[in-house]
Amino acid sequence: MITKIKGTQDIIPKDIRLWQKLEEVVRRVSKLYNYTEIRTPIFEASELFHRGVGETTDIVKKETYDFLDRGGRSLTLRPEGTASIMRSVIENKLYSSMPLPLKLFYYGPMFRYERPQKGRQRQFHQFGAEAIGSDNPLVDGELIAFATTFLFALGIRDVVVKINSLGDQESKEKYHSRILEYLKPRIGELCQDCQRRHLENPLRVLDCKVDKDNPVLLEAPKPLDSLSDQAKQHFDKVIGYLKALGVNYEIDKNLVRGLDYYTHTVFEIEADLETLGAQATLCGGGRYDGLSETLGGPKLPSMGFSFGIERLLLALESFDFYPGLDRIDAYLIVLGDQARFAGAAIAESLRRGGLVIDYDYGERSIKGQFNQGEKLNPRYFLIFGEDEYASGAINVKNAKTGVQERIELQDLYRHLVNAIQSAYSGCTGNCQNCEDDC
Ligand code: HAM
Repeated sequence: MITKIKGTQDIIPKDIRLWQKLEEVVRRVSKLYNYTEIRTPIFEASELFHRGVGETTDIVKKETYDFLDRGGRSLTLRPEGTASIMRSVIENKLYSSMPLPLKLFYYGPMFRYERPQKGRQRQFHQFGAEAIGSDNPLVDGELIAFATTFLFALGIRDVVVKINSLGDQESKEKYHSRILEYLKPRIGELCQDCQRRHLENPLRVLDCKVDKDNPVLLEAPKPLDSLSDQAKQHFDKVIGYLKALGVNYEIDKNLVRGLDYYTHTVFEIEADLETLGAQATLCGGGRYDGLSETLGGPKLPSMGFSFGIERLLLALESFDFYPGLDRIDAYLIVLGDQARFAGAAIAESLRRGGLVIDYDYGERSIKGQFNQGEKLNPRYFLIFGEDEYASGAINVKNAKTGVQERIELQDLYRHLVNAIQSAYSGCTGNCQNCEDDC
């Protein structure tokens, strides 16, 4: 048997409602903040991620899916969305045809060669938002508020927003020299991984996951203490906006994030939920004022975030996120050869009118058809036998109440539409309280 690749997942019909429901919330909340969807290719030139995400990052060094196509081009399955979106903005010159900041959101699969575990896959999905072309700290504050509003809309309230600033380029360079100098005499006290990477990426040593309580790290100088005056002002304003927008946050001086493009604000949102296991970070993001220029574009200071969808779904297992039942409007039960052709035509015309209809393909007995139909959770059963065929009528049975009515075929469509509308009008689609599951 050929099986799925390690670290990938089938989203099978029983789970799809949950995904779709979550995707609805993605679209609804993005709309509230006036973000427009953008879709970019799943593979890109490898160079995009090498330059964009950074040669020395774990993602590019160890986790990308790289391959040569038949024309010998080096391509990479996208490990994240930000670099692709910036490429697209530059290539399509969106910055000159749309008002700035461009407010874009995206949703789709990403690929990283990581050790699969709960909440960590090799193919996973992200919902992200990017505001491109403004250095205003209000953008940082608003995006963090957007991320928390999205969680609220899902019913996830108990989260911690951790925030830090890496500062502008000048602050980053100053900090780089400071931390290198500090680490030099203490290298031997770092974990193996940090001993190896401290020279090329000393910033990452700060958020070492292996050795969190190592005094060398706890006492190390922090990026926040190397901020230029301008960077400090930016950070203070971001904090001011978070307060104004009612976002609870914690300053985490060790938060640096794993991608090279960040400047100024970096943030993560964590939830402490048993269903999440060790992967508590639902969302990560930050400002990347230099990425456009790194990719050959104009100056476009920007900020964004991404959520891991699989982690959100794990988090939702702890809450009452009700995807509703998959329902069909009616299940058609047909008896007799003649009625079968006419029955298929009735179903077809109801479908063309927008109703969700299904029926039996196995020429089962009436009992067998009812059994099949019940599994599909219909609102109505339509019973069409030889008698009904002869008289141009059909029996409509309410699947919940069992009440059955005989309806002329010519009135069937209107009857069903009216019945469904009166039973389900005013329903929000997420009902645990309307008269039926919709
Ligand atoms: P990231 O922190 O690498 O940032 O990923 C964002 C989120 O994607 C993580 O917090 C996590 O929820 C989810 N995630 C990452 N890797 C995996 C995985 N292997 N399996 C499951 N979920 C995963 C970025 O990707 C940046 N592009 C965020 C950003 C947008 N910064 C600015 N704009």
